[in-house]
Amino acid sequence: MHGANLGTLLRTCDAVGACLAVPPWRWVDEAVARGNTLRRPSCVHRVGNPLSWLAAQRSAGARILGVELAEEAVRLADLPPARHRTIVVLGHEATGIPAEALDTLDAAVEIPMVGTGLSLNVAVAGSLVLYKLAGLL
Ligand SMILES: C[S@@+](CC[C@H](N)C(=O)[O-])C[C@H]1O[C@@H](n2cnc3c(N)ncnc32)[C@H](O)[C@@H]1O
Repeated sequence: MHGANLGTLLRTCDAVGACLAVPPWRWVDEAVARGNTLRRPSCVHRVGNPLSWLAAQRSAGARILGVELAEEAVRLADLPPARHRTIVVLGHEATGIPAEALDTLDAAVEIPMVGTGLSLNVAVAGSLVLYKLAGLL
């Protein structure tokens, strides 16, 4: 929903050695390009049908990890570094991860909060999880 989050996530992906997967929409391409202050090419996958792509990745052996506040979610502190290919799924800023995508998840991770807000900014949440998975925190 907010293009600035795509640029922030792209920079985090670069920092931890991950790729960013986004839908092939023009406004997304423009937001990623605007937010890319890295001054060199970055790893960005354009994924036409996210659900089929997730299913294919899962069949090929990747672990699909949702980032969401959910009852069965693992707390971030208990998330071990990724030992093999992992796809991190982030939710829409207004509506979260859609139900049909929740069905493709192997697990979910949540970041505990003690404040008054209901959720974190999606780029902040994604960045924290990526750093933990990369074993850099
Ligand atoms: C602003 S939140 C979405 C809030 C939305 N109202 C909802 O019902 O899910 C955007 C995304 O950031 C991630 N997120 C935000 N806070 C989180 C938290 N504390 N733990 C895990 N994921 C979080 C999730 O991927 C979420 O779908």
